[in-house]
Amino acid sequence: MSLTIVQHPLAAHVMTHLRDKTTKPALFRTLCHQITLLLALEATRDLATEEKQIETPLESVRGRVLARPLVIVPILRAGLGMVEPFLALFPDVSVGYIGLERDHATAIARSYYCKLPPLDGRSVLVIDPMLATGGSAAQALDVVKKAGGADAALVCIVAAPEGVALVEERHPGLPVFIAALDRELNARKYILPGLGDFGDRLYGT
Ligand code: PRP
Ligand code: URA
Repeated sequence: MSLTIVQHPLAAHVMTHLRDKTTKPALFRTLCHQITLLLALEATRDLATEEKQIETPLESVRGRVLARPLVIVPILRAGLGMVEPFLALFPDVSVGYIGLERDHATAIARSYYCKLPPLDGRSVLVIDPMLATGGSAAQALDVVKKAGGADAALVCIVAAPEGVALVEERHPGLPVFIAALDRELNARKYILPGLGDFGDRLYGT
């Protein structure tokens, strides 16, 4: 399968502080921003570019620019924490939204919102910090593909092996970019060692 784990000393440093239960929401948001910048660079490494002739103040030169518009689709609510760093790197990105919430007892995600820009012919990155059972991501990718997003990838901060396996089963070959591959899920389908409930830690709820 196409799984990429970001390898960078800064990623390791940021992940340790994100996991730390004493990290408060303000710092947690900053760390989320930093790790997402690293993930965004990795996930967009193979974006198509095309030639463009420009004039420097001194002469003509052929440069390269991004060939296709990029779309990001955060899964609400925790995915919102990853939007700003993408916008910082790709100011022209279009943003779609998919609202999914896991049931506390069953861990099965329920859809409550969906608004997507045109996806045909665009590179689409579905973004969600946590890939636990994989149910939310697989469902969001179903929606994106149905809406025409044939060139899609998934970007998460922490993944469990169970979630990676489910995405591979439901969307074979789909590129997945993560910052950490953790050990397993607990009985309540939380990632171990993980970092707890990302949405709660991001928004102090
Ligand atoms: C979290 C997380 C993912 C999902 C991952 O969201 O942000 O969307 O759980 O779990 P899964 O892989 O088992 O589906 P949650 O449903 O807690 O909603 P929230 O973002 O509103 O907190
Ligand atoms: N969602 C989270 O926020 N954390 C987990 O460990 C699993 C799902």
